[in-house]
Amino acid sequence: MKKVLVTGGTGYIGSHTVVDLLENSYDALIIDNLSRSKIEVIDGIEKTTGKRPSFYAIDLCDKSALEEVFKLEGQIDGIIHFAAYKYVGESVAQPLMYYRNNVEGLLNLLDMVKLYKVKNFVFSSSCSVYGNIDSLPVSETTKLNPAQSPYASTKVVGEMLIEDAKIEIPANFISLRYFNPVGAHTAGFIGENPAVTPSNLVPRITGTAAGKFDKLMIFGNQLPTRDGSCIRDYIHVMDVAEAHTAALKYLSKLNHLHSHEIINVGSGSGVTVLELIAAFEKVTGIEIPKEITTPREGDVIAVYSDTNKSTKLLNWETRKTIEDMMLTAWHWEKSNA
Ligand code: UD1
Repeated sequence: MKKVLVTGGTGYIGSHTVVDLLENSYDALIIDNLSRSKIEVIDGIEKTTGKRPSFYAIDLCDKSALEEVFKLEGQIDGIIHFAAYKYVGESVAQPLMYYRNNVEGLLNLLDMVKLYKVKNFVFSSSCSVYGNIDSLPVSETTKLNPAQSPYASTKVVGEMLIEDAKIEIPANFISLRYFNPVGAHTAGFIGENPAVTPSNLVPRITGTAAGKFDKLMIFGNQLPTRDGSCIRDYIHVMDVAEAHTAALKYLSKLNHLHSHEIINVGSGSGVTVLELIAAFEKVTGIEIPKEITTPREGDVIAVYSDTNKSTKLLNWETRKTIEDMMLTAWHWEKSNA
């Protein structure tokens, strides 16, 4: 497999995945409408890898423009589909926009997969499809509880759509359910560049350390966990990127069509909010102003991934530590400031 189309390739996980693809001798081309990312990310990718991917500023909802890319590019061996909106709060306020963008974009792309006979497809899903979790760790066979936001619903619908479409489309599909990707490439040329004021923990930690926010609010310290704060499965974004390359390698070895695998992408260990903050303070030597407040509405108390399937099927596991995550996130915050 050589030519890989990456939708949303100038976004956070997309750009890191393009770097990993280029470093593994794939020819990556990017489609992104730049609504949530900047064209400068292409420069960052080039500075990191010495290679400049082809780029099309196209919205997946514009089907005729999308088809032009397939006509122009000829044989595309694989697609990694990141392009989607991802802000939980925004999705609650604008569900129609979220469904239109996330579901219509995927539908249009699947039409192209069928029409242009693309054989390999990787879909960005999310651990948010599990809803509120009863038993830990969460495995791919864990029953899905109701989605907690329109954003999460669009990911559930995306997986269902692929599950049904695999009957009609002669291709193989993988949906990757990401846990909590954080950190940045060590070179410091690409990282997370939130389109709205960040509400995720790591950008809040680094932003507070950089003086962008007065203090870090900790959402709960009396919960039933080892230190009272929430538990999540943080995973370095380059490890997440490598999971995509591993997914493409797995797909290229299959000798059948019409399959769809759902695979967790997590580290397998849960880290508390207080532990993560302590790790940041230790590796950077910066003490963050912080305040304990009540738990955030809609937050699950604890979630982390069962990694058996990703290890077995993709022959992939995480390599980076929490310290790597905190250091690279801080490096990116400073170089991006
Ligand atoms: C959030 C989304 C999830 C999405 C994921 C993508 C919510 C409820 N969930 O997950 O659907 O897939 O981002 O990255 O928005 N925290 C603080 N203080 C802060 C920010 C966060 O204490 O200022 C805590 C939260 O309570 C949580 C943990 O840090 O326990 C991680 O929060 P966050 O980074 O927002 O990720 P998730 O809530 O896991």
